[in-house]
Amino acid sequence: MQAWKDYQSQHQDKFLNELIELLKIPSVSAMPAHNEDTARCAEAVKQALLAAGCDTAEVCATAGHPIVYGEKIIDPSLPTVLTYGHYDVQPPDPLDLWTSGPFEPRITDGKIYARGACDDKGQMFMHVKALEIMNQTGTVACNVKFIIEGEEEVGSTNLGKFLEDNKDRLKADIVLVSDTSMISMEHPSIETGLRGLAYMEVEVVGPNRDLHSGVYGGAVANPITILSKMIASLHDENNHITVQGFYDKVQNLTDEERKALNSAPFDLQEYKDELGIREDWGETGYTALERTGVRPTLELNGIWGGYIGEGAKTVLPSKANAKISMRLVPDQNSHEIAELFTKHFNQIAPGCVKVKVTEHHGGEPVVTPTNSIAYKAAEKAITTTFNKSPIPTRGGGSIPIIALFEKTLGLKTVLMGFGLDNDNIHSPNEKFDLANYYKGIETIPYFHLYFAEMSKG
Ligand code: BES
Ligand code: MN
Ligand code: MN
Repeated sequence: MQAWKDYQSQHQDKFLNELIELLKIPSVSAMPAHNEDTARCAEAVKQALLAAGCDTAEVCATAGHPIVYGEKIIDPSLPTVLTYGHYDVQPPDPLDLWTSGPFEPRITDGKIYARGACDDKGQMFMHVKALEIMNQTGTVACNVKFIIEGEEEVGSTNLGKFLEDNKDRLKADIVLVSDTSMISMEHPSIETGLRGLAYMEVEVVGPNRDLHSGVYGGAVANPITILSKMIASLHDENNHITVQGFYDKVQNLTDEERKALNSAPFDLQEYKDELGIREDWGETGYTALERTGVRPTLELNGIWGGYIGEGAKTVLPSKANAKISMRLVPDQNSHEIAELFTKHFNQIAPGCVKVKVTEHHGGEPVVTPTNSIAYKAAEKAITTTFNKSPIPTRGGGSIPIIALFEKTLGLKTVLMGFGLDNDNIHSPNEKFDLANYYKGIETIPYFHLYFAEMSKG
């Protein structure tokens, strides 16, 4: 639509400068030291929603970080699009690996570098600017509602209750989310699934205090050695996970589904080169796309214990710890898997140590339909702006609240993400290509338009 194009090209700099201001706010949800920044960011999002054309917008307090809610209702008889995103970001560490400050956005080679540039401030803000375009050109096609939360990166602990408490207010026809990635600008894609997550912390305790490793070593079990062995045993020689019952509920794909999944453009050599690895790794019998998309995994996220300071200290530590997360696929359930893991980890512990297993936040896997009006609207919107029809893919990441949109509100989701896998989300030098940012802003109004048209039947 010409009016949209004109408005966007006239406001390109404004759209960028506003994103830069948002990225300057260090809204790190995991760090209490940033609580004020996080609150300030919520306020900024609310103001942005109002400026874009929402009739109302509100910062809703929760037991944790606030949720921003906004809406523009143009005609109750029209369909309603509920846009979800998050304004919180991951901690920026390790700081010394950033080329410039994580909260001092820098533009190089047409990419904007900052924590949250892609995940998810940049992607969330595309929807705010898309509303501005539709509003300013008098072309808002659907009612719009926004939930922009501040706790996605810490498990969305308070959003579930917000959905329960606001069922009426959140009535909608579809949830639209840009918080995932696509293959590339040449190969646009839509993720049609997200993995779930079960996140555990384990502690292995040996002697009741740190010991001299010469005086006691050899006669007393070293918890680091024991933990290492236990961890090593969690995968077998086929890199299959050994936790009893782990695969019991895993849905296997049909040959046809596997073929479709593997027909997505993917070059293993390029993948390895880009990551600086000589060989890839994973469960025997599956391709890299399957291993990250439709198979469950178990990963060590951190491991510590003993002396890691300067120089050498001869110590036999009293305990060792690790953080372990498992990515889940349909029909695995995060609590069931946490329970199986706890049972298994206790079972494999030798008598010379005690173990303690605790469960952190988790989330359930989801698969989104590809035969719905909403998916078809997204497909057509992307085809319009990319001149190429998007490929359905399965994403490896997790967005725990998506399963609850369905469970609590009965709403399906479309994951129309515009990030790239190499955007360095959660890593140093996170970036978002400006081409993707602008393309996203261009595409979203078409989604609203086509969703309204196709909903008429
Ligand atoms: N936006 C990501 C999830 C994502 C990234 C999905 C790329 C698909 C492709 C989200 O912000 C995230 O990081 N989720 C966490 C889970 C959360 C409970 C901390 C994750 O996937 O580790
Ligand atoms: Mn995200
Ligand atoms: Mn994230």
